[in-house]
Amino acid sequence: MKKIATTLVFICFISIGIAQKNLPTDYLSKEFHQGRREAFRDSMPPNSVAVIFAYPERVFSNDVDYVFHPSPDLYYLSGYKEPNAVLILFKDWQGKGDTAYNEIFFVQERNEQREQWQGRRLGKEGVIKQLGFKKVSDGNNFKNFVIDHKKFSVVIHDELPTDIKGDDSGYDLFGLLQTFKVGLVSEQGDIELHKEHLLIKKYLRPGNLKYFVTNYQKQVTTNDAFKNDAVINQVLNNPDSAAIEKIKANLKEPMWGTDYYLEITNSLREIKTPEELVPLRKSIKLSSIAHAEVMKAVSPDMSENEIEGIHRYIHRRYGAEDEGYPPIVGAGANGCILHYETNNSTKIENQLLLMDVGAGYHGYSADVTRTIPATGKFTAEQKAIYNLVYEAQEEIFKLCKEGTPFSSLNKKANEILAKGLVKLGVIKDESEVNKYYPHGCSHYLGLDVHDKGNYGPLKANMVITVEPGIYITENSPCDKKWWNIGVRIEDDVLIKKDSYEILSIDAPRKWDDIEKMAAQKSKFKEMSFPAL
Ligand code: GLY
Ligand code: MN
Ligand code: MN
Repeated sequence: MKKIATTLVFICFISIGIAQKNLPTDYLSKEFHQGRREAFRDSMPPNSVAVIFAYPERVFSNDVDYVFHPSPDLYYLSGYKEPNAVLILFKDWQGKGDTAYNEIFFVQERNEQREQWQGRRLGKEGVIKQLGFKKVSDGNNFKNFVIDHKKFSVVIHDELPTDIKGDDSGYDLFGLLQTFKVGLVSEQGDIELHKEHLLIKKYLRPGNLKYFVTNYQKQVTTNDAFKNDAVINQVLNNPDSAAIEKIKANLKEPMWGTDYYLEITNSLREIKTPEELVPLRKSIKLSSIAHAEVMKAVSPDMSENEIEGIHRYIHRRYGAEDEGYPPIVGAGANGCILHYETNNSTKIENQLLLMDVGAGYHGYSADVTRTIPATGKFTAEQKAIYNLVYEAQEEIFKLCKEGTPFSSLNKKANEILAKGLVKLGVIKDESEVNKYYPHGCSHYLGLDVHDKGNYGPLKANMVITVEPGIYITENSPCDKKWWNIGVRIEDDVLIKKDSYEILSIDAPRKWDDIEKMAAQKSKFKEMSFPAL
């Protein structure tokens, strides 16, 4: 909550630092976060500085915000979980002797009144003691700490958030960003122009030249940077295909701060350290147990939301604070909507139920999907589609080892699903497969559900998902016996040198194991509550 209620006549001040007990004891250590900062620094180019901001807070309702979700990058590098902070990492030591430093962290200041309303803050002493930083300052000092952009070879930073508003403190994230931006544009030139050059280099072709030209004809009437830019003017001259290639070849832009940022964070975060694998494994295991328990609990009279609630309860029961993403619980036609999140069907009836639900344990996200029959027994058509998706998953698992190009996974998914759908008569030609399999089959998993990574060849200690699926919506051009069957099976896989490990193994996956699990007794079925 940003606003402090003004209607209270009497505000009771508390002494700073209300004691907190019974906290989890398995958070990542300060040594882990220190090590990640060192690894980040090792990847920085000479004489550079990196600036990493906290995520913005978001309004939920009037003066109430959504529960704050820390920026995964900032958390990875610091362990700090609060908003309104900025971490600065220098490649080289700044200053000399005892006062030299190579990192400085500006964090939320302690404030009795705000802490009683909004929650505890670590403050600079807490950050020094608990997170192992040496040079820490209150956020409001950032405006006195000038980053002389010209002094550094490059200022490394993420894309800056633009849609936030300041509160009355003057040094929330909005204030920190305003301070940082001074000097940045002059150092980097025109950001929009730079982005446009990248678009030209990546996408300009004779076939879409007209689109680029029409757009620039409009832009140059109001935008001087575009009007005076040599590259934009070359495009406006209606180049032939040879000239287009020349324009693109000449566009050898130097790496910008955001390019470095992405490259460094992708390369670090795609490989999980042994310390990270502990919470990630836990997150996936407890989510898989939740899927197994839900299989026992489901019956056709239940609502999608109630089923979501059981997942969430089991996550909390095992210590997960959160879900890694909004749960998807869709019955029948809803299961064919890839990111269905409303989960508001009041009865799942005798339909197939797709549940893509994963916990967030100490920041690490699971991503597990199971598709089960609400009755506990697959119909012939449901089983045929289910087993095809299962077969695709099994074939993809075989590729899960060091060296496999990332793109081979989805190629295999397309190949198996296409052949299978033709065999079942759902499609006539293999080229139609993406009508029913419209997404990719794998992504990295970690602090983000769609975690950062380079999407190059697989390497040991990457964790990826394997999630083929088939979604046959109503009125699809196939026999209507297939309509409203949506199946995704999603598992989380640790890549090893010559093999793989399925981390979500506790959630039954084979059709007959699901039926066996569904036939078991559930404690949730025994619960009863008063009528409303
Ligand atoms: N839960 C989102 C995904 O599977 O990618
Ligand atoms: Mn996924
Ligand atoms: Mn998923």
